[in-house]
Amino acid sequence: MSHKRVAILISGGGSNMVSLVRSMTSDHPARPCLVLSNTAEAGGLAKAEAAGIRTAVVDHKPYGKDRAAFEAELIQPILEAGADIVCLAGFMRVLTDGFVSQFQGRMLNIHPSLLPKYTGLNTHERALAEGDIHHGCTVHEVTAVLDDGPVLGQAQVNVATDDTPESLAAKVLVEEHKLYPAVLRRYAMGDKTPIFLP
Ligand code: GRF
Repeated sequence: MSHKRVAILISGGGSNMVSLVRSMTSDHPARPCLVLSNTAEAGGLAKAEAAGIRTAVVDHKPYGKDRAAFEAELIQPILEAGADIVCLAGFMRVLTDGFVSQFQGRMLNIHPSLLPKYTGLNTHERALAEGDIHHGCTVHEVTAVLDDGPVLGQAQVNVATDDTPESLAAKVLVEEHKLYPAVLRRYAMGDKTPIFLP
């Protein structure tokens, strides 16, 4: 059986990328083919290299506001690696419809909230400010609308009265590392049935 080839896009430490890479072994239908970052500062690049995975950097800064020009470069290593699936994992650049449409139905993202609540940034602060008792993370298909595509999985955490944005983020991240690999495995088999943890 030929494996699905998965490109993982990161901007930071890449803990979600590491979880995904560690999950793609033995009878898993997919294998990582590329770890790509928009910044050479991303700590996840060294982790990917240590795992023997091809890496690439396309720095977004030289392109300024010209998102299309940045994305025309960003797509090159993904095509060269022959990716079948693209996983955004802590990737912090908003992608235009021009880019997303080339991977529609083949691109996933993990977002640290129970979508549709709290699209965008600072999700943990916002959940605390609202006094939510539940919070969590969502894996969804990427569409042109930010943090809006079909939900493929969610994991829930309880918010404690003494939680801070940092302690809440840490709880959510533990669940992200379980949810994203579970969703990718099912997705790579062509099954888009949503997964809800616990
Ligand atoms: C995490 O906060 C996660 O919720 C979001 O990106 C951040 C960094 O993730 N997806 P990672 O450690 O770089 O995977």
